[in-house]
Amino acid sequence: EKAGFDHFMMKEIHEQPKAYRDTMGSRIDASGRKVVLNEVKLTAEQLRDVNQIHIVACGTAYHAGLIGKNVIERLARIPVETDVASEYRYRSPIITKNTLVIVVSQSGETADTLAALREAKRNGARVLAITNVVGSSVAREADDVIVTWAGPEIAVASTKAYTSQLIAFYLFGLYLAQTLGTQDEAYIAEVIDAIKLLPEQVEYILGQAEAVKQVAEQVATHEDLFFIGRGMDYAVALEGSLKLKEISYIHSEAYAAGELKHGTLALIEDGIPVIALATQHDLFEKTVSNIKEVKARGAYVFGIHSAGEDELKKSVDQTLEIPKTLPLLTPALSVVPLQLLAYYASLARGNDVDKPRNLAKSVTVE
Ligand code: M6R
Repeated sequence: EKAGFDHFMMKEIHEQPKAYRDTMGSRIDASGRKVVLNEVKLTAEQLRDVNQIHIVACGTAYHAGLIGKNVIERLARIPVETDVASEYRYRSPIITKNTLVIVVSQSGETADTLAALREAKRNGARVLAITNVVGSSVAREADDVIVTWAGPEIAVASTKAYTSQLIAFYLFGLYLAQTLGTQDEAYIAEVIDAIKLLPEQVEYILGQAEAVKQVAEQVATHEDLFFIGRGMDYAVALEGSLKLKEISYIHSEAYAAGELKHGTLALIEDGIPVIALATQHDLFEKTVSNIKEVKARGAYVFGIHSAGEDELKKSVDQTLEIPKTLPLLTPALSVVPLQLLAYYASLARGNDVDKPRNLAKSVTVE
């Protein structure tokens, strides 16, 4: 049942190329220039009336929602707020009939996410669900559903569900752009072409697992570490940090790289591992200068960068290159080494990778 892998998590990490393909599937039309979302019943007129979007979710799905915010704001120029469901439902959010609420949930059964969905509906918002389980509570109660075709996810640590949620956000962002006319056709086609390349690019990264394993074995000897990045790299850093904490029980924090000197830099001392994401071309120089700040204080830096930007090698101790893609799409690649890092660190510590202590796969209690 683990298809030759030692753990479900590793099997699911390797299923990502297929999950990407299945989630894009028939949602890209034959010309390759348009996204087709037949399951979304929202009309063009209703979409034009949307003046704000709230993305609501828990844990890893919340982290996918942080990327979703970036994607939708860039492609469709609609203001988006991403919130943790257990906060959103109690803070009396400003929801109107022109608010589109997007709930994201692998299981579709998370209690707080479901309650947030109900709160949104009570306030007259239209709700779109991104979920991996057809027929789940979230899928049944939402007005529209985009199913992520990742297949069953057994490991408590979410991997392929997260990345297929990213694919769903890319498709929905493009769909909005196409419907609202916020991006020209050529650009939409360019993004679609780049999305189609992601599965084989993930395969390439999986081929580098051994290099990540070496870093993980070193990381596993520490009790504290940091993940840093800017922009979407920061959102991916949050996910990498959660994954590592969840299964390796090593304490880590994700920081927006530009925030380091507002406090966290005080914690950087000799030998502390820092995982630095520098995949965003426009932010590259800025991130490199933050990396130099931690290096100067003795940190051991593992840097993840895009192909072609190997100047990073000069500033860090170890690097991993991800294949070249559009800046908007790098999260669908850069998270993969972080999943592997968490997996190998957990393994090195002798933990139960698939069933971490104190956690359940589906959190149906509040
Ligand atoms: O089923 P859901 O997507 O609603 O679950 C949300 C979180 O409980 C989940 O993503 C959790 O954070 C994962 N175990 C993280 O790997």
